[in-house]
Amino acid sequence: MRKKVIVVGSLNYDIFTKIPHRPELGENLPVDEVSFSAGGKGANQAVQAAKLGMETYMAGCVGSDAMGDMLLASAEKFGLHTEYIRRTEEPTGMGLVSVLPDGSVYANIIRGANFAITREDVDRLGSLWDEAGYVMIQMEIPMDINRYVIDKAKAHGCKVVLNAAPAEKFENEYMKKCDILVVNEVEAGFYANEVIDSLEKACRLADKKAADMGNSWIITMGKQGAVVSNGQKHEVIPSEKVNAIETTGAGDSFIGGMIYALNHEMDLFDACRFATKCSAVTVSRVGAQDSMPTLKDLNTKQ
Ligand code: RIB
Repeated sequence: MRKKVIVVGSLNYDIFTKIPHRPELGENLPVDEVSFSAGGKGANQAVQAAKLGMETYMAGCVGSDAMGDMLLASAEKFGLHTEYIRRTEEPTGMGLVSVLPDGSVYANIIRGANFAITREDVDRLGSLWDEAGYVMIQMEIPMDINRYVIDKAKAHGCKVVLNAAPAEKFENEYMKKCDILVVNEVEAGFYANEVIDSLEKACRLADKKAADMGNSWIITMGKQGAVVSNGQKHEVIPSEKVNAIETTGAGDSFIGGMIYALNHEMDLFDACRFATKCSAVTVSRVGAQDSMPTLKDLNTKQ
């Protein structure tokens, strides 16, 4: 089995502010607590896989600024291979994350350097395309690059996991080429064109999409758990009961954990059970990458 993992995606400098309530239009909301963390869906997923011990390589871009320095240092600290991350003139991408008292979040994402990635950056991964079992992609880089990655992965026998987030129109032709699609309930609603507010609806949607597209669909439903369908059957995997402090990166932790488990002979359903354990740890601390568990953290917890 090919044990290496590739991630082509985003790196963001996340700024978290703890706010007492969602501001009204025109309201100026004073904030007492602010913190900073390495983020970006691509980097988060890559770091989770690396923290679990996977040999993980990331292609992406950060600015030639202090935020870019911090993101690279953080990724390296967690064992991610960063030699395919390019420094650009564009500023580093950012996530401005507002955290509500119950731990739920909303965020503005500043694209910055993430949109400077080119096909050449993807090509520079060279022979890794023949050594990696999976590539993980998201929608925080230009979709043209994602199309290129999908075609390249398929040509090299590398499986594709697409985290279709933030939700954006994407041709069915390309979604079908992906092996596993992962979305949360809001993104699921976008792709279904209806509100997905119950596990029943999520199961129906995951089954339909997976059967129509001939791949597997996972819909993460926050506290309710995750719905997993391979087109023939589905399972609802309950989330672990934890005291959620801040949920940023929960989905990324889930995906990085799932990739680890798939690479350790688990089937998709067991892999998602393992993934929920990872995201449970991630939501119990503030920040995305810093909060993600290592194998030791998971074993200590059990
Ligand atoms: O999935 C969470 C991530 O989304 C954050 O780290 C933020 O940067 C955005 O990319």
